[in-house]
Amino acid sequence: MIELYKGSEHFFKQLPKGVFMTVKGEQGVNTMTIAWGHLGIIWNKPVFIAYVRYSRYTYSLLKTAKCFTINVPKIGDLNEALKIAGTQSGRDGDKFHVAQLTVMPSQTVETPVIKECPLNYECKLLYRQTQEPSLIPQSIQTKHYPNDDTHIMFFGEITHISENDNA
Ligand SMILES: Cc1cc2nc3c(=O)[nH]c(=O)nc-3n(C[C@H](O)[C@H](O)[C@H](O)COP(=O)(O)O)c2cc1C
Repeated sequence: MIELYKGSEHFFKQLPKGVFMTVKGEQGVNTMTIAWGHLGIIWNKPVFIAYVRYSRYTYSLLKTAKCFTINVPKIGDLNEALKIAGTQSGRDGDKFHVAQLTVMPSQTVETPVIKECPLNYECKLLYRQTQEPSLIPQSIQTKHYPNDDTHIMFFGEITHISENDNA
């Protein structure tokens, strides 16, 4: 039984600053910074929902991936790594190496977690949903989607939450 509240205060404090979304696809493993997402419950399952634009390399990995992990730094930590993962693309090289992040096996899914992050969510892909642009308020469309590069919502069933004070 997942205790969804475990680490949630830490998670919600760090999310607006950025957390890592790590995905293992057929092409390899990659991580990118995200600052939008939800922790919640649907179909009686604990889920994390991430928003990934079509243009991201992460999206191309998610086409075939079966899982992903969400890796949360200590509050206010790893800012340079978050900047690298949030501005460079895995298409152009190994971001773990550039950002000096270490991957280590997770406990319940194929995708690894990031050792330097004390809070990690392991998620099994459950569902995905595209946005309906015509239903998005005009002011948000203008601000966030000037090029129609909308987000796809990826729903991951949380299979494990690890909290490690020593990271
Ligand atoms: C603080 C921050 C938050 C971000 N949040 C998201 C997000 O929620 N969804 C998204 O698609 N891109 C987001 N990005 C942009 C991606 O992290 C960025 O485009 C990244 O280079 C994509 O990497 P990839 O091509 O290796 O997938 C964010 C960037 C930063 C710096």
